Amino acid sequence: VPVPEFDIIVFGATGDLALRKLIPSLFHRWRDGQISKTSRIVGVSRAEMDCVGFSKLALGSFREFHPSERVDEAEWGAFTNNLRYCGLDAAHAEADWSYVRNALKGAGDKQRIFYLALPPALYGAVSANIAAAGLNQAGARIVLEKPIGAGLQSARDINAAVGAVFNEDEIYRIDHYLGKETVQNLIVLRFMNSLFEPVWNANAIDHVEITVAETIGAGGRASYYDAAGALRDMVQNHLLQLLCLVAMEPPLDLDSDTLRDEKIKVLRALRPISRVNVRSSTVRGQYGKGAIDGEVAAGYCEELGGPSDTETFVAIRANVDNWRWKGVPFYLRTGKRMASRYSEIIIQFKDIAHALVDDEPLPPTRMVIRLQPDEGVKLLLVTKDPGPGGMRLRYVPLNLSYAEQFEARYPDAYERLLMAVVRGDLGLFMRRDEVEAAWRWVDGIRDAWAQDDTPVYNYAAGTEGPAQAAMMLDREGREWFNGA
Ligand code: BG6
Repeated sequence: VPVPEFDIIVFGATGDLALRKLIPSLFHRWRDGQISKTSRIVGVSRAEMDCVGFSKLALGSFREFHPSERVDEAEWGAFTNNLRYCGLDAAHAEADWSYVRNALKGAGDKQRIFYLALPPALYGAVSANIAAAGLNQAGARIVLEKPIGAGLQSARDINAAVGAVFNEDEIYRIDHYLGKETVQNLIVLRFMNSLFEPVWNANAIDHVEITVAETIGAGGRASYYDAAGALRDMVQNHLLQLLCLVAMEPPLDLDSDTLRDEKIKVLRALRPISRVNVRSSTVRGQYGKGAIDGEVAAGYCEELGGPSDTETFVAIRANVDNWRWKGVPFYLRTGKRMASRYSEIIIQFKDIAHALVDDEPLPPTRMVIRLQPDEGVKLLLVTKDPGPGGMRLRYVPLNLSYAEQFEARYPDAYERLLMAVVRGDLGLFMRRDEVEAAWRWVDGIRDAWAQDDTPVYNYAAGTEGPAQAAMMLDREGREWFNGA
């Protein structure tokens, strides 16, 4: 379905995010006919370049990141017909915005979108400069990349500075996990099937695991990553958003504020982690030298070129203190340079009340929601092994595989989110209070780490993280499920 006409002004246009994700996403949506010929893209960045140079740069990176897709000059030319580039330092008070103004001439009542693919410390200044340049026409929207700040205080400062120029319902804070197909499906799965909701609580569920494992390292973003670490880079946003979608109460409808009201209740119910329980409830790790897919991989400090105690892995035992989840731990873990790349949510149901066979303990019913790759949902069940051999049991999946069930190409999360901004669908974005509530909990953990001097355990690149993460569950008679 085509979206209304719009102009998007991308700040940080020559940066990694814009070239790797944003421009390719706009191209894909254009190619699919969702974006009208009259919609315009204006790239803004400090680099000196003309429109042709920028278009070439963007095409070069499109080809680099989408090697299997064919795009010829003519098609790219048609796409970039409405692409402009303006070299200016948008965070600088005295920058000359006349090129941007020219590029946006004749906008009529087109939707205007500012996308800040910039470090968060610049969000306030750029917003103020957009206003000073007279460009924030009524109804204009602004998109902010995560992380919003580095903690509660800086998030508040950024939210206040951007909020001085844009209304809350014009601010789209991206968490690209909310744009993933399987993440959006969580709401459908839970609330549009009658089977699950009656058992989705502490009566039936033993615990929940949320794992986001990556094989990549900190890569070329060392200066950002070393200051952030896994807790702030991944848990504050992606993992907590997943936790919210798993734990929230049924919303009254799909209105964006109804949804976000339910999510924030979960964030507020998170039990604070303090110095007293930080060692039993969290594990920090950092990858050392190892091997990924048979190739030697350097350790984090070696890549960084100096010592660091930044965590590249974190595991957390979280509790949601409300009626539904009383006593049900939510085990979260995420890490870089792990054995394989996958994101998964496991709902582990309680053991059966009374066993009818006594040879072996029966495995519990588990629901495995695979977010990426091999998207799908599995329900792991005990069944009778077919055949005349008596009552032999097998643990097998009832398997919904996206690849087998659906044929479509799944748009990248950014494609979906960009179109959601144009349509004004705020439900896929984080509200100010949500971001701040997530930071409050995460800041508590960081403070506790500092007070306790919590160790950062080494793990070899290409493994499941430090042994202490397994021990954290072992102490409670549980283990991470690695068997899907
Ligand atoms: C980003 C983090 O938000 O998410 C990165 O900053 C991480 O460190 C990335 O690699 C993971 O996203 P995805 O979509 O590849 O799971």
